[in-house]
Parts: sequence; structure tokens; C-alpha cells
Amino acid sequence: MPLVTSKEMLEAAHANHFAVGAFNANNMEQIQGIIDAANEEKSPVILQVSQGAINYAGLGYASAMVKIAAEESSVPVALHLDHGPSYEQNVICLRAGFTSLMFDGSKLPYEENIAITSKIVQMANTVGIPVEAELGRVLQSRDSVSEEEVKAAMTDPDQAADFVSRTGISSLAVAIGSVHAMEAAEAELDIERLKAIRAKVDIPLVLHGSSGVKESSEVEAIQYGISKINVATMLNQAFIHALIGAYESDPKNIDPRKWLVKSRDAVKEVVRGKMRLFGSSGTVSSSGFFSAPTSHRSADLGHLE
Ligand code: G3H
Ligand code: ZN
Repeated sequence: MPLVTSKEMLEAAHANHFAVGAFNANNMEQIQGIIDAANEEKSPVILQVSQGAINYAGLGYASAMVKIAAEESSVPVALHLDHGPSYEQNVICLRAGFTSLMFDGSKLPYEENIAITSKIVQMANTVGIPVEAELGRVLQSRDSVSEEEVKAAMTDPDQAADFVSRTGISSLAVAIGSVHAMEAAEAELDIERLKAIRAKVDIPLVLHGSSGVKESSEVEAIQYGISKINVATMLNQAFIHALIGAYESDPKNIDPRKWLVKSRDAVKEVVRGKMRLFGSSGTVSSSGFFSAPTSHRSADLGHLE
């Protein structure tokens, strides 16, 4: 089916207490692994492209590959700009056919973040495209940041309410304890802060930096209002580990396809596991849209009772 926007899928997730996985892709095999999992799991999916991915693959290739993936797919697929760095990049991606945008003004002074985000929302909403923005800041890699810095960068619930009403964004990326690009799932989210944000903000909330978050904490966050979860580092890890394994088991091979197929399958299995954990598996009905979640979540929910 053609690309859809992220708006309907996130609203369905928000209303039904599941989360849609937003998976970063840089090349064809990663896109195929993600889309194969989505089709087999009957899950909506967001394929997201960062500025780094655009620099690597080229905007034309990146958007065309995701469009083909969507067209050959029987589940809803959105093409999302991840951490869009500027107004201009958002315009460029809108023109290239992206069906979901993000402006990351989290490093900017508050009023400047509001001004640029609002301008992008006004431009994108004119043609029905939703915009995500970030408030508070999800920092990069725990190696270089302390617990105190992570805490100091967290989203303030009152400011979140003000930000949402003044910008008109469709979804809000919140900083609640995750850090981008962690290589092990060790972080616990600040669920009390998430509840306080949710009490003041009624649009879908987004978790960035999920590779470093404990699965039990992700599941709890979904219960309390996270509707989109971004996954990148663990997909890259799966891709590279499978590639190294394939090389080591057949070092004389010179056909890249024989190794890359292993990477594609490894990405697919990680995505499948995340879709089950997030509760998005089985939410796409035979007519192509959403039904109630069947919830195959695998993390222990005992502590939530
Ligand atoms: O925007 C992308 C993500 O927030 C991914 O974070 O690399 O820690 O999974 P991650
Ligand atoms: Zn992110």
C-alpha cells in the first residue's frame, strides 16, 4: 500500500496502549529486514531516516527504497525524518515525500525551539503531514554523560504542556532517562516523570534512545503513554554481528549477498522481538488497518500490578 502518515498509527497506539516501533535504516538490507518483520507480524511500522542516513545513502535513494518497501507491503508504513536538524531539511524531506517529520531543537534556547518548530508545523500541516519535536534532551552515549547530566536534561512537565499548545506538534519526544546509542540495555526510565507529563499533555509521546533501556521499563512506559519507540543501535549491532559471523564461517566468499542476507535476517528478528514487546504485532487487520492489540509482550509485567 502507499505510504501513510504516522498520525493515524500513533493515535491508534495512543488510544489502545501499544507503541509503534520507529526503526532507523541506512541501507536496503536494513529496510527489507524491518519491513519483512512488519508484514509477518501484521504490525504498523515507521521507517525512519536520520541526517546521517541521508548523508550516507542520499535522500533520493533513502526515500525511494522506503516507498518501494511500503508499496510491496500489506501493513501501514510511514517514512519519517529522524532528528531533522533545520526548517530547510524538513521542507526538503516533505518535498521528497516523507509522511512524517521531526525537528530536533532540543539544543536550542526554549523560545527558539518553539519558533522553528511552529513554523515547520504550520508548513507541514498545510499538506496533512504530522511533526514530532523534542523537549528536554535525550543525550548521546552514556560513556560521556553522568547520571546528573541525564537528570538535568529531562523534560519538564509544565514546560511540555506549554510547548505542545504553542507549537501544535502531533507528537512529543520526551527525555525521561534514556540516552542515545547505549550498547547494553541498562537504563531505567523515570516513570513518575512520564506520568506527570502524560497528565498535562494528551498527544502521543515518543521514546528515543531505546536500545539502552531495559525491556521491562519500555513496557511500563507504554502503559503510561509512550506511543512511538525509536530503535537504532541494537539494529546496527545485530547487522554487524551477523556480518562478522557470516564472514568468519566462510572467509573465502566474495559474494556480498551471502553475508548480507544474514544481516538482513538478524535485523528482522530484532524488529520482530520489539514489535511483540511493544504490542504492535497483530494490530493490523486484513483490511489493512488497526484492530485491538493482541499483546505478545514478553517482559515481566508482575511489578505493574
Ligand atoms: O532517533 C533514534 C533513536 O532515538 C535511537 O536510539 O540508537 O539508542 O536505539 P538508539
Ligand atoms: Zn533519537
